[in-house]
Amino acid sequence: MEVIVQTNDKKVARLTALVMADGLREKPNLVLGLATGRTMESVYAELVRIHKETELDFSACTTFNLDEYVGLVESDPNSYRSYMNKHLFEHINIDIANTHLPDGMAEDYRAEAQNYEDLIAEAGGIDLQMLGIGRSGHIGFNEPLSALFSRTREKALTRSTIEQNSPLFDSPEQMPTHAFTMGIGTILDANRIMLIATGHEKARIIAKAVEGPVTAMISATALQLHPATTVILDEAAASGLEGVDYYRWFFRKEPEWQKYRKEIQ
Ligand code: F6R
Repeated sequence: MEVIVQTNDKKVARLTALVMADGLREKPNLVLGLATGRTMESVYAELVRIHKETELDFSACTTFNLDEYVGLVESDPNSYRSYMNKHLFEHINIDIANTHLPDGMAEDYRAEAQNYEDLIAEAGGIDLQMLGIGRSGHIGFNEPLSALFSRTREKALTRSTIEQNSPLFDSPEQMPTHAFTMGIGTILDANRIMLIATGHEKARIIAKAVEGPVTAMISATALQLHPATTVILDEAAASGLEGVDYYRWFFRKEPEWQKYRKEIQ
């Protein structure tokens, strides 16, 4: 696991978007795994800016989102399909037929989950998977005690996740209690993973996820088993890490980050 610490959340978003853009330039038919949530909003805003400024081409790109709420139609303003349209897809030249989220209205949960796994496999697997982290330590909606090798399935949300996300709904009771989510095993199959976290409220869980023991109680600790995971944090989210000096030094010294250091000044 590689940990990158930036002075503020703007630099986190800029750096993350630059790495995503380079991934797409290197492989125009990139298969991207996408996350929703507040943290990703500024990353997508940066990506849209890069697309407009440099004509970054998404026409051959395929995307798979991590999750979708059970019981919300695509057109519901709180569905993750609506989120993705609003924050990314409507502003770039992606073919909407190449963008995938689980169908929150599917009646046969098992069949929908298997179908999603099959679609990812048919696309050749995920090249770059983006992740946020919930207060419960979830990645996707893999709540505590999700099996570390779990696959896409329907999952009951914890009280902490419901408290985290219900303010986004007109009334808290409208927040669904279940979601489809890629499993931890599905996520770990990606070639490269980037987890983004900003703000003091993520510091405690980031310290556990990055430097704590691997445990099914905190899904994000499974990323320690992945050979190519980068965690990008602002100083606030990194404030509970014991190795933060080493992580800062690493970003200053490692040649592969040099060009990004200049671009985010
Ligand atoms: C969203 C998702 C979640 C979020 C996490 C952080 O698709 O899979 O794991 O990434 O809950 O959300 P924010 O960024 O709103 O704190």
